[in-house]
Amino acid sequence: MKILVTGGTGYIGSHTCVELIQAGHEVVIVDNLYNSSIDVLDKIEAICGVRPSFYEVDILDKEGLEKVFEENDFEAVIHFAGYKAVGESVAIPLTYYENNIAGSINLYQLMKKYEVRNLVFSSSATVYGDDFEVPFKEEYGLGTTTNPYGTTKKMNEMIITDMNLADKNNSAVLLRYFNPIGAHHSGLIGEIPNGIPNNLVPYIAQVASGQRDYLRVWGNDYDTVDGTGVRDYIHVVDLAKAHVKAIEYAASHKGTEVINIGTGRGYSVLEVLHAYEKACGQEIPYQIMDRRPGDIAVCYADTKKAEELLNFKAVYDIDRMCEDSYRFTCNLQKDR
Ligand code: NAD
Ligand code: UD1
Repeated sequence: MKILVTGGTGYIGSHTCVELIQAGHEVVIVDNLYNSSIDVLDKIEAICGVRPSFYEVDILDKEGLEKVFEENDFEAVIHFAGYKAVGESVAIPLTYYENNIAGSINLYQLMKKYEVRNLVFSSSATVYGDDFEVPFKEEYGLGTTTNPYGTTKKMNEMIITDMNLADKNNSAVLLRYFNPIGAHHSGLIGEIPNGIPNNLVPYIAQVASGQRDYLRVWGNDYDTVDGTGVRDYIHVVDLAKAHVKAIEYAASHKGTEVINIGTGRGYSVLEVLHAYEKACGQEIPYQIMDRRPGDIAVCYADTKKAEELLNFKAVYDIDRMCEDSYRFTCNLQKDR
């Protein structure tokens, strides 16, 4: 299939492009390089021997985006492009709504005009809010989101669902990611945090590589195995493989499916920290702090639907996630 990948030079997008190319698909990337670098194209080529086509286009620029549709006959779209920092979305909500909603609507309108009917959208476990009990099941529906970023994910899910109810020939898979971490085994692509990382593993990676002094653990008084928050971490390469299955599913079915992508098991902050210590061969200092406002105690996926519909099951364990994260972080430092 010829597939348009928006946000394809980003963290999850770049890993997905590798898996798509390796599965025999043709990839065309659209990215404005707001949160990624053009060098990623070299890295993708180094890994799979094929350089994806690339357009430096902002999805808010509808005319520019339309040129991409004019020049290519796409069968499907995987839509990653968007802003993703929760705290920032609280500070500048309009910027988030503009990019993540108006940008997406431009894309969906062009898909309609050029009759590109198959879509995979990057949603998030954040759409469950704190309304439900674990494991989170797709059938729970949408919870109460607690920040504008989460609301943009929820609104996109609603928009796509309505769009496909109006046009029964359309097909979409809304993937609710749990916590993607790790990097490609080659150490060539991975997550490059912008400023001080908010998320756990990028922060631990910077402590392990000497860029920060210690990890601040946000609370150890939750009702969990050791009192620290529990999340469903999934290797980004597993997540990327899930996209290949999802786009192939979309191309052979009609309607809209919501599917969780996680491992189905949770790890606490301290369990992740200890796995990372094993991966980097050194102790990682930490301090227990107060809870982070808005955090929930435990979050993990019910993965039955992904298994049944997509025949997808994550294979990489937490040790491998940490090893691959550390390898990429060390390479990144060498390059600087
Ligand atoms: P990322 O920032 O690494 O990748 C997003 C890419 O989109 C970047 O390359 C950026 O330059 C590009 N982009 C942003 N706005 C754009 C615009 N207007 N036009 C063109 N390109 C634009 O993020 P990621 O971690 O790879 O996440 C990809 C998607 O998955 C995002 O939609 C994100 O919200 C979603 N998601 C991520 C996580 C996570 O933990 N990383 C979890 C759940 C959902
Ligand atoms: C974050 C996002 C969420 C997104 C998800 C997946 C927030 C508030 N939520 O959630 O919208 O869908 O990532 O990418 O950012 N922790 C520490 N110290 C740190 C960082 C984190 O102890 O420096 C703890 C947290 O309290 C939590 C766990 O580590 O218990 C994971 O945190 P994080 O990586 O930020 O992910 P989420 O909270 O799941």
